[in-house]
Amino acid sequence: MALKIVLFLGSVRQGRNCTRVGNFIKKQLQNKNHTVTVFDPLEMEFPLLKQPLHFHAPNETPPEWLVKYNSVIEEADGFVAVSGEYNRCIPPALANMMDHFPPKSYRCKPCSIVCYSAGPGGGSTAGMQLRYFLGELGMVTPGFMFVNPVVQNAYAEDGTPAASNDTAVSKAQRLISELEWYAEALKAQTKKCGLP
Ligand SMILES: Cc1cc2nc3c(=O)[nH]c(=O)nc-3n(C[C@H](O)[C@H](O)[C@H](O)COP(=O)(O)O)c2cc1C
Repeated sequence: MALKIVLFLGSVRQGRNCTRVGNFIKKQLQNKNHTVTVFDPLEMEFPLLKQPLHFHAPNETPPEWLVKYNSVIEEADGFVAVSGEYNRCIPPALANMMDHFPPKSYRCKPCSIVCYSAGPGGGSTAGMQLRYFLGELGMVTPGFMFVNPVVQNAYAEDGTPAASNDTAVSKAQRLISELEWYAEALKAQTKKCGLP
């Protein structure tokens, strides 16, 4: 089944590495015929959170861009979070962007975790924190976390894996097959029973 996937990037830093990994994952998802919308906090210029969509009072009109981005999240079948690691934590740009939207929009959909760092840890500490964060937003995180150490050497800017990174494609395929499984299962159950 072709799925609608939102891929979240988590950095606005000059010289950021998130696009290397993001471009690679996007291509792998597209190779499986999935439609990918990238939520890029740099291109979309999310401000520091002033008011999440769901905190607007009934007599307030939320910004048009916020409503538009929310409808993309609502329509998605699943998500991928591509996360670096800042001081052993989730990058603030990622949490800031995702906090703009109500848990209701993410609820009962899967979000696969792809983490990376410049060092040997591959961002896995942030990846573990993401499981809590995404769970709090109502998402399910499939078991396989794709950890990418020394990311600056692992992928070219356009996302092409380095010759030494010969497990990237098989790991991406594992990640995507789990994402597909959960997306289809949760979609079928939601269709059958509605949301809990
Ligand atoms: C503020 C800051 C904190 C960082 N903390 C960590 C860290 O805790 N663990 C780690 O492995 N790398 C850390 N790094 C290095 C990042 O892994 C590396 O810069 C990575 O490329 C960040 O993602 P980005 O390039 O997409 O912004 C840190 C980098 C910055 C800018």
